[in-house]
Parts: sequence; C-alpha cells; structure tokens
Amino acid sequence: MSQDWSAQQYLKFEDERTRPPRDLLARVPLQSPRRVVDLGCGPGNSTELLIARYPDAEVTGLDSSPDMLRQARERLPKSTFEHADLSSWRPRERTDLLFANAVFQWVPDHPAVLKRLIESLPQGGVLAVQMPDNTDEPALALMREVASSGPWASTLAAAGAARDDLPTPADYYDLLRPLCSYLDIWHTVYNHVMAGPQGVVEWFKGSALRPFLAPLDDDMRGSFTADYTARIAKAYPARFDGKVLLPFPRLFILAVR
Ligand SMILES: C[S@@+](CC[C@H](N)C(=O)[O-])C[C@H]1O[C@@H](n2cnc3c(N)ncnc32)[C@H](O)[C@@H]1O
Repeated sequence: MSQDWSAQQYLKFEDERTRPPRDLLARVPLQSPRRVVDLGCGPGNSTELLIARYPDAEVTGLDSSPDMLRQARERLPKSTFEHADLSSWRPRERTDLLFANAVFQWVPDHPAVLKRLIESLPQGGVLAVQMPDNTDEPALALMREVASSGPWASTLAAAGAARDDLPTPADYYDLLRPLCSYLDIWHTVYNHVMAGPQGVVEWFKGSALRPFLAPLDDDMRGSFTADYTARIAKAYPARFDGKVLLPFPRLFILAVR
C-alpha cells in the first residue's frame, strides 16, 4: 500500500461519502458565484455536485494526492484540477466559494488555515466546511488500541497523531465569528448501513486506517486488519437482518465573509 490515498478504496462507499457534501451545499446561500474551488476534491465526487449547482461558475478542484487527482480528471475531463497543499495555498481573486468536504481534519493546525482562507474571501464570499467529528467513536478508538498493543506498536507510535480531536463548536465560533457576517455551525450523525463488520473495516481502509496500515509490511498489515476486524465485530453488533449500523458524527461550518 502506498502512502498516497486510493481513489478506488474511497469510492467503495461513494453514495454515503457524498451525502455530507450534498447537505453542506444545500446550505450555501450563493446564487451565482464567479469562482468556486473544491478544496481536497478527492476523486471529484464533491466537484461534480458543485458543477451541477453552479454550471456558469469557474469550478476547479484542488488536492495533494496524485491518485485522487488522476481519478478526478478522468471523471470530469472538462474541469481543471490543481495539485496543491492547503497548508500554504491561497485563492485567486474573485473566488466566491471555498468548499471543503472531509479534508480539513487532515490539515495540520487547520483552524489557522480556515481563518486565513476566510480573510482571503471577498465580502459575501463563503467558506463551507465539513469534517468527521469521530475520533471518540469505537472505530477510531479501536485503531489506536490495536496499534498500541501489537508487534507493530513502535512502528505505529506516531500513526494516531495523523488526526487530532476537532476543536469544539464554541472554539470555532470564537475564532471565526469576528471575521464573518454570518456563521452557522452544526453536527449531523449519519447512521450508515454496512453489509457487516467487514464493511466498517473497508470504509476506514479508505480513510482513517491509512496512517496505520501504510507503514506495515503485508504480513503485519494482514494481522493488524484481522485483529481490528474482530474488535469491530464486537463493537458494531449485527442488526436483525445481519447488517451493521455505522454511526458517523460530522461537524459542519458555513461561514460568510
Ligand atoms: C476524504 S477525501 C474527500 C474527498 C471529497 N472532497 C469528498 O467530498 O468526498 C480527503 C481528500 O483531502 C486530500 N487532502 C488531505 N490533506 C490535504 C492537504 N493538506 N491539501 C490538499 N488536499 C489534501 C486527500 O488527498 C483526499 O483526496
């Protein structure tokens, strides 16, 4: 497994993963933005929503993963995609919407980056953000538990640090409200229906498990995954029809400059 993201693994749950950007976009109050940028566009699923909503805008996607960008360009050949890191990227002038679905949880010191991006928007410009707020969920706690209790413990000592707990809504409010004419912050907990515990594991192989699996060799990766799957099966019991519910809390921020 490479350190890069895998678009193929991520898209195994495309419908579920595209629900939060739909819900976020529904709250964006802009009628005819000039430039729209999909930050952390991944395989282009969120970019596609932006193009459908704003067919007359200049919509571009930005990502730091070559595999994701390859997939996005294949999916939307007429659109422009840029290789960039959000830690240092700045929008061009006349950018009215910055849309960031499921990316800022991976960006170091993301509150400072959010602040800088809002400051760069024109009056009335919008920053729309969604991040998983799930570091206390069993699926993530169990990754850290397995990582610290196996022969891979020293190799994975730093893996848990790839994702920090999110600041509270109150923290975001204090940071962003002075810069905004309007600010809305909310949580939604989705309950995704998985075919079984293996589905939960496959879901996270496309996201939060990456920093834990990437440093391991094939044998270790197999053992880690087997141990993790056994714990997931206990933490996410089957429903009456054998399916498993994956509760997934997500934080949304809609900021208007
Ligand atoms: C979970 S995917 C989100 C994909 C898509 N936006 C969606 O709505 O499903 C997160 C994406 O953020 C990208 N990413 C992570 N850190 C980044 C950074 N510092 N700068 C730019 N993109 C980054 C990853 O490469 C990945 O494609």
